[in-house]
Amino acid sequence: MSNMKQQVQEAVSFIEHELGYRPEIGLILGSGLGILADLIEEATSIPYHAIPHFPVSTVEGHAGELVAGHINGKDVVMMKGRFHLYEGYSATHVTFPVRVLKALGVNQLIVTNAAGGVNVEFEVGDLMLITDHINHMGTNPLIGSNDKEVGPRFPDMSEAYSKRLIQLAHEVASSKSFAFREGVYLGNIGPSYETPAEIRFARVIGADAVGMSTVPEVIAARHAGVEVLGISCITNKAAGILEQPLSHEEVMEAAEQVKKTFLQLVLGIIEEM
Ligand code: HPA
Repeated sequence: MSNMKQQVQEAVSFIEHELGYRPEIGLILGSGLGILADLIEEATSIPYHAIPHFPVSTVEGHAGELVAGHINGKDVVMMKGRFHLYEGYSATHVTFPVRVLKALGVNQLIVTNAAGGVNVEFEVGDLMLITDHINHMGTNPLIGSNDKEVGPRFPDMSEAYSKRLIQLAHEVASSKSFAFREGVYLGNIGPSYETPAEIRFARVIGADAVGMSTVPEVIAARHAGVEVLGISCITNKAAGILEQPLSHEEVMEAAEQVKKTFLQLVLGIIEEM
């Protein structure tokens, strides 16, 4: 057995032992959006450092724990805090938790993030359903030997983000008199924010939002056949749109302001999944 497979199995055995059930829906909560984990019923929290082989996140605003429980009768597991390439982890480490979620039973994954609005029509506080992504991170979590039991060597990415779940999310939003934006997420490695020239480039290549996460996780999830819904919280206008510098504080504040709406929508979506 490969080292990776064995590590995933050890992490899964540990978590299964703590939970006693197999969650079907997974969530990865981005910067400032971890609050969702507080709404889980009969929550079991497992700090990342307790899970065998799990990396530990280092960024402010990203607590590191797995929270599992029930939402509207569905068994869910949330990653409160995620791992980023810019922290120095390899793409394999960044996506280790996705492998673990899949092996735990997760076949539908909601991935959320904070992102800069590249599309000039986007306002701070908008929520964007990710219709597609551009991997501009210079790496890929599937580099290296492939385990055919997990997924194919050359996985198809033509529907990385489930059209069915996008449709469902729009329906939930309109029932709550809300409208999601839609667009393409560009993944950059960070941790520096982009230059104005890079944002003009992003626009030319078809990006609507830009961030430093999500892409590796979605590649790993799709490799393993997990259905994905991606939601970006537009926390700032991308570099160069306004004549002002970007800051992590601004990103966290915007996430804070939109979180009530975000919570309601995600709860509604889970109910319908
Ligand atoms: N760029 C990259 N990542 C981000 C941004 C941004 O403007 N906002 C939030 N995450």
